[in-house]
Amino acid sequence: MINELKKVNVFYFSPTHTTKTVVQNIALGTKLEIKDNDLTFINEDLEDCNFSQKDLVIVGLPVYGGRTPKVIRKVLNKLRGEETPIVLVATYGNRHYDDALIEMKDIFVQNGFKVIAAGAFLGEHSFTKKVATGRPNKEDTKKAYKFGEQVIEKIKKVKELANIEVPGNRPYKKDGNKKNIAPVPNENCKGCNICADVCPTGAISKLNTREVDPGKCIQCCACIKICNFNGREFEGNPLEKSIIFLETKCSDHREIEIFL
Ligand SMILES: Cc1cc2nc3c(=O)[nH]c(=O)nc-3n(C[C@H](O)[C@H](O)[C@H](O)COP(=O)(O)O)c2cc1C
Repeated sequence: MINELKKVNVFYFSPTHTTKTVVQNIALGTKLEIKDNDLTFINEDLEDCNFSQKDLVIVGLPVYGGRTPKVIRKVLNKLRGEETPIVLVATYGNRHYDDALIEMKDIFVQNGFKVIAAGAFLGEHSFTKKVATGRPNKEDTKKAYKFGEQVIEKIKKVKELANIEVPGNRPYKKDGNKKNIAPVPNENCKGCNICADVCPTGAISKLNTREVDPGKCIQCCACIKICNFNGREFEGNPLEKSIIFLETKCSDHREIEIFL
């Protein structure tokens, strides 16, 4: 089979780019031709993408509330396999990935894929730069690359690839209630529009970045992190409790976990 594999198809949802960095390094490690598919800008009209046994697919998602981000689930169901080997990656911000990997496994097994490997990687927390700061770092990207090599070794060695076990519980953690909050510009805002360009859901108007739709905002914090002027913030600091919890209880170094 390995001789027939030519391309690795990479899919990711990654508002603050940590997941993107991880999956792209895994893909490099496979040394196959890479077809990169960025799913960050939500497009529910995406056509079905069908894969065969000769394809290799890698999907990476950030963990939101111990689950897959709700906003991307419909799009994930457009990926269809026929016994297609798939590698699943959950990137999390140093608290925990809880049921994200098992949920990903269930989605993709149901849609015809064979989960041959998975990884829980670390990414700087979207809410605060003080948790998992700078991750994935150099060592993480090296491990991601090595993981890509290990996936190929496994495909070469194992004749009958089967679904692997991944940690997590069923029923999954309940989705949190949708929060009707969104970052808004502060006095530092220069009106450069970069925040609107990185918003995955179009919650920020491209014509006037002061116009924000909290109904569309998923609190991914891409707009806050991209701003060079600290020009965007949540009014009234509604994430304060979560941030204090993360900074006081989730600051220990965590290691990448690989499942092969
Ligand atoms: C709404 C939201 C919920 C999150 N929930 C969790 C969580 O349950 N556990 C955790 O460790 N990190 C959590 N994070 C942090 C992200 O998983 C982490 O920062 C990830 O690296 C972001 O990925 P990205 O850079 O690809 O967007 C959450 C982030 C956001 C925005």
